[in-house]
Amino acid sequence: MRLLLIGPPGSGKGTQAVRVAEHYGVAHISSGDLLRRHIAANTTIGRTVADYIARGDLVPDSIVMDVLRKPVEEAANRGGYILDGFPRTVQQAEAAYLVARKLGASVRIAIYLQVPAAELVRRLVGRGAREGRTDDTEAVIRHRLDVFDTSTTPLLEYYDRRETLVTIDGNQPADAVTAQIIAALDRIRPQLP
Ligand code: AP5
Repeated sequence: MRLLLIGPPGSGKGTQAVRVAEHYGVAHISSGDLLRRHIAANTTIGRTVADYIARGDLVPDSIVMDVLRKPVEEAANRGGYILDGFPRTVQQAEAAYLVARKLGASVRIAIYLQVPAAELVRRLVGRGAREGRTDDTEAVIRHRLDVFDTSTTPLLEYYDRRETLVTIDGNQPADAVTAQIIAALDRIRPQLP
């Protein structure tokens, strides 16, 4: 199982990745969580990326690739992974493809979680009030949504052309979203070569 979860901030990528990874017994790898761990540990990478994340801008590709390489290689050797938040640009997707091809671990399915912007803002403003994530203020949330529209939506066409892209309605209770993702994967995976 090698799966990408693509969706705007607040669409439920993290929530769903944990559940789907547990269901299939594969690793969940979140680029945002890995970067935030570096910030919490005050590493050189953490100090470099903190401002990008606080502003809601994308972290430079080379840093993201460095942070992800080892966990992805390890998970590929152990039976697979669900990638949450990576790739976010076509350039990242192309770089990831070259690395994965060497490992014989190319991604086959991408899931796109579709949620209206007003609901995304509602969810993230709520999380900001509860958990205080630096990028969950309304101004930064709106910037993150713009970055998604500009930089990440071209990925949808990229994966639709190259792999299997499945769009799931993420604007329903989390359990219903999980059930639809698992039903789609169980339907599609046996048909893949
Ligand atoms: P990242 O950590 O990936 O954040 P994000 O994409 O902004 O996504 P979120 O974590 O905010 O939302 P989510 O879609 O995971 O939803 P979640 O399940 O958490 O990235 C953060 C930053 O790191 C980026 O801005 C960038 O700077 C940097 N970065 C990361 N990857 C990068 C990359 N590849 N390249 C460059 N830079 C990178 O849910 C959100 C909330 O909604 C929660 O409170 C949850 O409880 C709630 N919720 C979830 N599902 C539902 C539901 N169905 N109904 C109601 N509420 C729900």
